Amino acid sequence: MLFFGGDYNPEQWPEEVWAEDVALMRRAGVNIATVGVFSWSNLEPERGRYEFGWLDRVLDLLHAGGIKVALATPTASPPPWFSLAHPEALPVNADGVRLTHGSRDTYCVSSPAYRAAAREIAGRLAERYAHHPALAMWHVHNEYGTDCRCDVTAAAFRTWLRKKHGDLDALNEAWTTAFWSQRYSAWEQIMPPRTTQYLSNPAHALDFRRFLSDELLGGFVEQRDLLRAANPEVPVTTNFVQGGWVSVDHARWAEEVDIVAVDHYPDDAGPGAEEETAFAADLARGWGGGSWLLMETGPNLIYTRGRMHAKEPGRLTAHSLSYVARGSSGAMYFQWRQPRGGAELFHSALVPHAGPDTPVFREAVALGRTLRNLSEVATADPPAASVAVTWDAPSWWALQAPGLPSKDIDYLGAVRQAHRALFRAKLQTDFVFPGVATGFGDYAMIVVPHLYLVSDEAAAAFRDYVAAGGHLVVTYLSGIAEPDTRIRLGGYPGAFREILGVRVVEWHPQPSGTTITLDDGLTADRWIERVETAGAETISLYAGGPLAGAPAVTRNRYGSGSAWYVSTGLTDDSLQTLLSRVAREAGAEPVLTGLPPEVEAVRRGDLLFLFNHGSVPADVGDVVVPAGGVRIRSAVEGPAVGRG
Ligand code: GLA
Repeated sequence: MLFFGGDYNPEQWPEEVWAEDVALMRRAGVNIATVGVFSWSNLEPERGRYEFGWLDRVLDLLHAGGIKVALATPTASPPPWFSLAHPEALPVNADGVRLTHGSRDTYCVSSPAYRAAAREIAGRLAERYAHHPALAMWHVHNEYGTDCRCDVTAAAFRTWLRKKHGDLDALNEAWTTAFWSQRYSAWEQIMPPRTTQYLSNPAHALDFRRFLSDELLGGFVEQRDLLRAANPEVPVTTNFVQGGWVSVDHARWAEEVDIVAVDHYPDDAGPGAEEETAFAADLARGWGGGSWLLMETGPNLIYTRGRMHAKEPGRLTAHSLSYVARGSSGAMYFQWRQPRGGAELFHSALVPHAGPDTPVFREAVALGRTLRNLSEVATADPPAASVAVTWDAPSWWALQAPGLPSKDIDYLGAVRQAHRALFRAKLQTDFVFPGVATGFGDYAMIVVPHLYLVSDEAAAAFRDYVAAGGHLVVTYLSGIAEPDTRIRLGGYPGAFREILGVRVVEWHPQPSGTTITLDDGLTADRWIERVETAGAETISLYAGGPLAGAPAVTRNRYGSGSAWYVSTGLTDDSLQTLLSRVAREAGAEPVLTGLPPEVEAVRRGDLLFLFNHGSVPADVGDVVVPAGGVRIRSAVEGPAVGRG
């Protein structure tokens, strides 16, 4: 069975509406509802006074309707009584301002009072519902990632730092505190990064991000263990955030959840939404080691540049099937019914303000049917990819530091661009995580965009990968520093210099939008650098500008493989051209050859999903895929399928 459903907030509605909800869910084929995400003040209206009756009735009603429940712990939003009783558990921002309750996520995860209250409410829920027949999974908290810089956090940060660095000398070295007289002579002198006079220390900031990720993970693990103890059969998860909000290191968190669950909201109203969907799904599959679940997405909505964009007919279906084709165990949405009030009152829903007689609900009903017919996909192998892109949250964080050589540096943009180029080249793509696991399997090609921080172990793993026949494409800003942001000396791109056979001696960041041409016709639109070859052959030269005649793209034969270096910010088309060329040399094959440009093919198990992102019907062998539509057919009986 594929999950189909989403966030359900019966606490926002009178009970008369609940019966209609369940009837409509049944009509749409909804088989799972996420309940209770922000319901703490309804479950515990006053300290120690619990009201579980309403939740009992909701769960029983859903169960009677054949609908499973992802039951949430409500700890992402402590009630006002809690914050008033424990003002010290309210978060403090970087300016030292203590926030007031009135929204959500307004807590300090290091606060002992908050942690105790969170364990208490999670424990009560576990005790009461761990064996409820509707319970399919636990959904702990919501979108972990909240930041606090209070004094309690400071103490927890110091404990974390002691464990990581051992002694102050090591910390001072790792943080280069000899710079600007920042040397610490006692642990108590170390604060969370707060607003300061001028540029702050990047290693300090990065360690704080890592600490916060671990601290929040500690909060999750505490609840998970309680829930698991109450019934080890029920999987425990939490919904990871995807998008531009940098929250926690999900590649590390993935090891701690029973199933990786992800929220994703594309932010491009045009065809970029489909590319983002593919990106998010491929990344989630990487975190999940093959399996994952789309926990929330907007049914009928794309927020773009401060404006809501209603999805065109068929797009809800196309996006949902894209996630499923890429390994999701279902398609779930935020949210079931559009609320009458509250901060997100216009956020889209499967049942909008206008009611069920609407395009979005009708499309949901049809989608429910489609997903039921695809139920065997739930156990099918995830898509197999022969190419991969690296992802590393600490490199992202490090590249947000002040004092970088260009304000245009954009880690997420670079990773998305690499994925987009492979998507357009019709290569099924995985993600690999050199900060977490080293050893890169047998991918024919790995693309390494802006992998700024590289450990010695990861550098060795990349060397082994290429020596054994892999094809590596490294872009500028990779391999520059050790994991603590200390620069690797002797020339960029430090960790990759040997396998790339190049040495970069100077950066010339160009404003993004600059036109940069290479002698073989490739173009770039940002960043150039002075590359000296040291064994590598030059593939393209800069054709003009300050580095005219110098190498721009190089290739180095290393062991049985090859390592390419891209010293400039290629445009989308040029990156696609280059990566397609390397993929051909590496023997990586598209999912299906000869596809029209606007058609995307994904193979999961024995099924082939064909998406037509164009505005006219597309002929794909024996199948015509309508404009904006999806066709699913057997991958086994059809025309030859070149598996990547
Ligand atoms: C995430 C959150 C939801 C809601 C939506 C809005 O999915 O989990 O609570 O805020 O974003 O898009």
